[in-house]
Amino acid sequence: MKDPYSSVAPFYSFLVNLVFGSGLREAKLSNLGNRNLGKILIIGGGDGKDYKHLKLPMNGDFWEKSEAMLELAKKNLTNSGLNFHLGDFSKSDAKDYEEIWLHFVLDTLENDELADFLQTCRSKLSSDGKVYFADFYPPVSRWQKLVHGIMISFFRVSTGYQRKEVPDYDRFFTKIGFAKAKEKTLKKGWIRSSVLEIKD
Ligand SMILES: C[S@@+](CC[C@H](N)C(=O)[O-])C[C@H]1O[C@@H](n2cnc3c(N)ncnc32)[C@H](O)[C@@H]1O
Repeated sequence: MKDPYSSVAPFYSFLVNLVFGSGLREAKLSNLGNRNLGKILIIGGGDGKDYKHLKLPMNGDFWEKSEAMLELAKKNLTNSGLNFHLGDFSKSDAKDYEEIWLHFVLDTLENDELADFLQTCRSKLSSDGKVYFADFYPPVSRWQKLVHGIMISFFRVSTGYQRKEVPDYDRFFTKIGFAKAKEKTLKKGWIRSSVLEIKD
């Protein structure tokens, strides 16, 4: 199968840093805290570069559908303790994860894929496990709208990205039975980072 991220992967982190500085890294890492990490499932972890900054022992599974991204992640996180897998995480039987990291991956899914995706995440989480989520919300200022529009056009051309606007994440999380335990907003709410728990 064609890898939609093959041409972008080598420049992905460079471009992200150029546009957002350390903003997206901050969104990913800020809620993870300085604590002992549990058994982790990272879905769509990209090139994994930002996780190098954690400097914490990790154990668990890193899934990527893009081979180009996965190969970079293996290099960037060589001594992390993670197991690396190519493909869709939902194909694995592994479960009882204490934490699932969803960083800038849900916005790549269509609305009709989101509920199933989150339901599968829920089935893989231990009953007291947590989801660490970070992503783009609707842009607020005119400048953000412009940058967001350019970003979407870029990903449409380079990766076949389909969406026109960001998903209503909160509605999907609530529908699947997750509740927000914590939320941090960056860039006036354009980017948010939250911790979610199973509520029922
Ligand atoms: C926009 S990139 C974000 C990468 C990384 N999380 C970051 O923040 O830099 C989204 C990534 O999710 C991966 N992805 C999307 N759906 C996936 C799935 N079901 N299983 C594994 N990887 C997935 C894509 O291949 C892509 O590399």
